[in-house]
Amino acid sequence: MEQLQWAQEVSEKICHKMRIVAERNKEKIPYTTVDGVFDDKSDDNTIGWWTNGFWGGMMWQLYNATKDELYKEIAVSNEKKLDYVLMHNKMLDHDNGFKWLPTAVANFRLNGDEEAKNRGILAADNLAGRFNPVGRFIRAWNDGGDGVKAGWAIIDCMMNLPLLYWAHEVTNDPRYLQIATMHADTAQKYFIREDGSSNHIVEFDPVTGEYVRIYRGQGYAEGSSWTRGQAWAIYGFALSYIHTGNESYLNTAKRVANYFIANTPESGLIPVDFRQPVDCTLEDSTAAAIAACGMIEIAKQLEKKGELGVNESHIYLNAAVKMLKALDEKRSNWDDNCDAIIEKCTSAFHDAKGHEITIIYGDYYFIEAIWKLTEQEIFIW
Ligand code: GLY
Repeated sequence: MEQLQWAQEVSEKICHKMRIVAERNKEKIPYTTVDGVFDDKSDDNTIGWWTNGFWGGMMWQLYNATKDELYKEIAVSNEKKLDYVLMHNKMLDHDNGFKWLPTAVANFRLNGDEEAKNRGILAADNLAGRFNPVGRFIRAWNDGGDGVKAGWAIIDCMMNLPLLYWAHEVTNDPRYLQIATMHADTAQKYFIREDGSSNHIVEFDPVTGEYVRIYRGQGYAEGSSWTRGQAWAIYGFALSYIHTGNESYLNTAKRVANYFIANTPESGLIPVDFRQPVDCTLEDSTAAAIAACGMIEIAKQLEKKGELGVNESHIYLNAAVKMLKALDEKRSNWDDNCDAIIEKCTSAFHDAKGHEITIIYGDYYFIEAIWKLTEQEIFIW
């Protein structure tokens, strides 16, 4: 009850600030802020960036809660700008889900828009085309045409699988479901370690499909524990459970969540890597917001499982609320003159220019988590 009242108060702060921020930035697709002002990633050189669906997604979440047409207008404009990406194969990759689920698919789900559905299917077909049938994984990233990354897969891709689950739902073509679940099974086997933590990048031989090695990726070191990667695993496996009902995905989501909770500092603020040096204070608020979304979904699924599930669900809900309260109290900027809300987001451990900045998906997942708690969410994934 107390949690709900707090979440409602945060929701009101979000609605107040975002109306002003949206009006001021309606022509943009932001990624970060410079001196409190959103940048814009909608020109031909930057429109392919993987985060370019989150602004549209925020607008749909706000539209769903308020029915204010401004948000719809901005979300549709974001979706249309992404058509340039659909026409350039080098801009298409494993992150098609991040771009078109919060934009076109959300538009289709909310408004039944057929053009939006067409965009979603095109993006899903391209994502499915990245599947390596021998290694049973969806290829991450592109390369210069030399095939260097043809065998790379990343944990983040779990969040893109819902584009395939959605395509299966609307076309009744089982290939989308088969590809999504084969990738999830491979991720479960090769990414998730015995202690419940996750690798970021795994390389397979793209010809034989055999496991080759892991890479450091965006975390501190090879074999370390990049927190946003852990968060993608928690939320991604929870989503694969929601879409398939396969219990092993829920168990995997719980294992990674248990690892995440055991490593969460008393402050509720999340480092960039759970295995970064002890004297390093670098944080990533996006990991907290994404993990919170995943844990709320785990709690919801457990609540459907009778008394024992209900008794267990509070572990995940409380852990999520602890992180969200820490973000609200210590890492949120509620000043209407600054465009972003969530501070201290970090893109990668070894990229100093992306340390503790504002990042659009920090705001997106914070809003989504608060919307889950206040039942205002449009289910994007
Ligand atoms: N999916 C890329 C990232 O989390 O930075």
